[in-house]
Amino acid sequence: MNNFEFQNPTQLLFGKGQIAKLKEVIPASSKVLVAYGGGSIKHNGVYDQVMAALNGYEVVEFSGIEANPQYATLMKAVEIIKEKAIDFILAVGGGSVIDGVKFISAAVPFEGEPWDILEKNLGKSLKSAVPFGTVLTLPATGSEMNSGSVISRSEIKEKRAFGGPLIFPKFSILDPEVVASLPSRQIANGVIDAFTHVMEQYITYPAGAFLQDRFAEGILQTLVQVGPKVMADPKDYESASNFMWCATMALNGILRLGVPTDWATHMIGHELTALYGIDHARTLAIIAPNLYRSLLSDKQEKLAQYGERVWGINEGSQEERALAAIDKTVEFFHLMEIQTNLSDYTDDYQDTASIIVERFEERGWKKLGEKGAVTPEKVAEIVENSY
Ligand code: NZQ
Ligand code: ZN
Repeated sequence: MNNFEFQNPTQLLFGKGQIAKLKEVIPASSKVLVAYGGGSIKHNGVYDQVMAALNGYEVVEFSGIEANPQYATLMKAVEIIKEKAIDFILAVGGGSVIDGVKFISAAVPFEGEPWDILEKNLGKSLKSAVPFGTVLTLPATGSEMNSGSVISRSEIKEKRAFGGPLIFPKFSILDPEVVASLPSRQIANGVIDAFTHVMEQYITYPAGAFLQDRFAEGILQTLVQVGPKVMADPKDYESASNFMWCATMALNGILRLGVPTDWATHMIGHELTALYGIDHARTLAIIAPNLYRSLLSDKQEKLAQYGERVWGINEGSQEERALAAIDKTVEFFHLMEIQTNLSDYTDDYQDTASIIVERFEERGWKKLGEKGAVTPEKVAEIVENSY
């Protein structure tokens, strides 16, 4: 196992009825900006619960943070916060609203052009940020308990990530009852995003980190167990609560401790969202299987272990078991009603590989993945095989 340091300051309040505890976790004198998305919270009772819990606070609302949150929208909230001297932000939504709030939190005190936080990757050197908490409405990204954020800028077709110690949420409220109102498209997205977060930190090479491997396999097995059940019945609280906890645990920093991590599927996937607007999780389902095939010799040992422990594949050589594990993964994506070819989502895919390679080269991203083996040539191969 490699050396590691770990700190995660986010307080979690998990379970039914926890939204009512907002008063216990937001400082009493705060002037609160409640930020949310397109309005799903007004139809499922979450908005009413939040507003009831905030009775007595001075509250300003900011709605309209879109899926794949847009820089231009978020900058409007930055202006409101400065103008109205707001000192606490509450994100009520999925990964997009939470990521959007992370960016707002960083951009308010930032001196200079806030896009530079993303463009120049300044997240780790931020000097201050507006404190914020979250009420999660969509288990998927893990953003509720991590310090990462992904922001889009449609006018230049960019989607960029940043992160740093100041942008952990102060607290996150995880009430699995919010899952009941999710459309199956978003449930499928959430399960596959969480699944791929685990894979990015697990399908690398053996590092003698036995517990992290078992954590990863436990989350994958639980997602395989509950994912189809939540799709069939989002009101099934037991399945929904396990789904929600899996998604948080998949990307709250625990799995990466002492092990190599990949993240190339995400880097390539983000480009597919930037170029074609494909849902984040679906871009991962398009890229991941072909990335594993292209890097089979590097990842074979962990793929075979995954096949054996998660899918019960015991027959054949290590390479055969690794390939069978990739097939099982694709089957699971299809079971969750997620298509795995780029051409399932757009007719305009022919130049995608060269566009992405050019962008990566411009940014100097020439050696992605746990061994730096995802070179521009590999990116081209992976993307072309995903058409
Ligand atoms: O906007 P509203 O009306 O709220 O509707 C949302 C949105 O349309 C809806 N929704 C959310 N909760 C609901 C609900 N509908 C009914 N009932 C509920 N309880 O779902 C739609 C999608 O929401 P969104 O927040 O976009 O989804 P998700 O949580 O999957 O977030 C995706 C974003 O997170 C980024 C992605 O790139 C993408 O931009 N990621 C963030 C990460 C992080 N911060 O660590 C890591 C991830 O890998 C990912 O990149
Ligand atoms: Zn993701």
